[in-house]
Amino acid sequence: MLPFDPFRDQPTLLGRGVRLVRLSAGNADDFIPTILDLDPEVRRLTGTHQVFTEEGLRSFAASRPDHHDRADWLIYDRDTGECLGDCALIDLDSDNASVDYRIALNSMRLTGRGYGTAATDAVLEYAFETVGLHRVALQVFAFNTRAQRSYGKSGFVREGVWRKHLRWDGEWHDTVLMSILAEEYAEPRAARG
Ligand SMILES: CC(C)(COP(=O)(O)OP(=O)(O)OC[C@H]1O[C@@H](n2cnc3c(N)ncnc32)[C@H](O)[C@@H]1OP(=O)(O)O)[C@@H](O)C(=O)NCCC(=O)NCCS
Repeated sequence: MLPFDPFRDQPTLLGRGVRLVRLSAGNADDFIPTILDLDPEVRRLTGTHQVFTEEGLRSFAASRPDHHDRADWLIYDRDTGECLGDCALIDLDSDNASVDYRIALNSMRLTGRGYGTAATDAVLEYAFETVGLHRVALQVFAFNTRAQRSYGKSGFVREGVWRKHLRWDGEWHDTVLMSILAEEYAEPRAARG
């Protein structure tokens, strides 16, 4: 069993070419414009129906440091300082040391360059080695094969399907469930060197 607030001291994480900084009022302006003008393909790939407001996003960002049962980061390019996207550990189940993961880069222009997988690897290292989680799980739409490939590179394995779980543009799509366990995550990391 984990404490109820394992993300209280959420650190900055460093990965291959990326820096992950806790979302807060201080860096809210790095992500608000992007979310307000969300890339339509990122919206589709993340199944985001929600329409955001600046006030709501600002309030969300400012309240993050007070929420110790989840961890929200902005992802930055380590060299240029450009904000690339965001990722989070959410839906903590402290009794079972289990959590869900989500990630999205800001634009399709940024995909396919290794940023997302590097961010995921940094989060998994923190989740398993620092926090002591037992399981990290995620949901990804069946049509999002790029994301499934990235998650697979980080060691996530497919464990099931929710059938016709997303309705997008009037069509139903399956959701793939993936997870990685503490004892599994070290293997792909070691293979990559
Ligand atoms: C999912 C995401 C975080 C992955 O990050 P990324 O930086 O693009 O991932 P990487 O560049 O490290 O790896 C992508 C891999 O997918 C492969 N790929 C690219 N397009 C692909 C496609 N259409 N189908 C299958 N694989 C594809 C790439 O070749 C690469 O694999 P490789 O390294 O073996 O060549 C990022 O693409 C993203 O944010 N996408 C938009 C939002 C989204 O889909 N979020 C996830 C919701 S579950």
